[in-house]
Amino acid sequence: MRVSTRSNAFPGSAIRGVNEEVVRLEKSGVKVYGFHIGQPGLPPSRELLLEFTKELLERPFEYSMYTPSSGIEELREAIAEDYTKYSGVKVGADNVSVTAGSAEAILAAFMAIIDEGDYVILFDPTYLMYEPVINYLGGRVIKVRAREELGWEPGEEDVKAVMSRRVKAIIAVNPDNPTGRVLGESMIKLLVDLAHDYDAFLIYDEAYRHLYYEGSHTYAVRYGLENVIALNTFSKDPAMPGWRLGYVIAHDDFMKVFNRVKQYTNLNPPTPAQYAGLLYLRKYKEKYIGETLPIYKSRMEAMYKAIKEYLPEATVIKPRAGLFMFPNLKPYLDKLSIDDYAFAMRLVKETHVAVVPGSAFGEAGKLHVRMTFARENEKDIETGIKIMADYILRALGASK
Ligand SMILES: Cc1ncc(COP(=O)(O)O)c(C=O)c1O
Repeated sequence: MRVSTRSNAFPGSAIRGVNEEVVRLEKSGVKVYGFHIGQPGLPPSRELLLEFTKELLERPFEYSMYTPSSGIEELREAIAEDYTKYSGVKVGADNVSVTAGSAEAILAAFMAIIDEGDYVILFDPTYLMYEPVINYLGGRVIKVRAREELGWEPGEEDVKAVMSRRVKAIIAVNPDNPTGRVLGESMIKLLVDLAHDYDAFLIYDEAYRHLYYEGSHTYAVRYGLENVIALNTFSKDPAMPGWRLGYVIAHDDFMKVFNRVKQYTNLNPPTPAQYAGLLYLRKYKEKYIGETLPIYKSRMEAMYKAIKEYLPEATVIKPRAGLFMFPNLKPYLDKLSIDDYAFAMRLVKETHVAVVPGSAFGEAGKLHVRMTFARENEKDIETGIKIMADYILRALGASK
């Protein structure tokens, strides 16, 4: 089969590797302690679904048609209002483009900005979707190490040191996946200023902007909209990842190019999802977040406590936001002479506890694992982590 050489830019996600094992186990009726896949562990608002299904049956034709590529006008207006309200920066419907999840936005945004040989700055570790897309498009990824000792914030001088006229974009996932790190205000301002000074873009991925357990989100657009491309999604706080809905907020000049490119990545974002997203913003968002955030917070606390108690040699930072923890298991894995990838695969196969190997997110993620606290309840979180710790202790005993 003569497939493209360029397709090798896409290595296949390690999250999916673990997930395939989980699906196999669950199909055979086995209980899995799922700390792997980054999706909300609660269903979407039931009231929203009831109202949505009624609307869908009343207006089946409209809800099944193609829409404008940038999304229906009502939804773009609702998003603009919502974003203005939370960010404090006035944005209009022309600053909004609706996408099939932020995954489509990532692809289309880089298609719109990258020329062969352009540099893109990426923190290491961070969300694993970016690097393959940039490589595929002929861009060059420049990594800046996020420093674990700084709570996974990169050093300001390290970022400044790699800036040049060849840099087209800086990517900041905030709050971060996998580390759970929230960037400080001065770093965010620095990134916007650097993007401005070097005529580049700051790709600001805010997928988890409503999932804060401490403090609140800093909107990069507050320091200027012109060079910021903010990526957002309905996959996290509304808990609708399978509906494939996201959106981009950016300057209208960029939007014109983005919307033209986007006609070729997907004719339009899924129409039914757009109407469900509209209902979420208009009627259900605040109530739903108010109900679900305390549940995630309690699960986060349970996971943090269990890691501290059962894996005392691991270092772990308590996340202020997002859905993840990123414990450093080096003291254990070094003694076992095993890397994080082999560990995660063995753990899921032998104990049915699913975590994601940290190296999937970059070199700096080696010997870490990403664990989400979103899916399991407090009791299962504790049990799963105890199973994981017992497995490590048994393996250490056997290797003596
Ligand atoms: C930081 C971040 N960005 C983007 C995405 C892509 O999500 P979606 O395409 O569902 O919006 C994810 C998914 O986990 C994510 O964590």
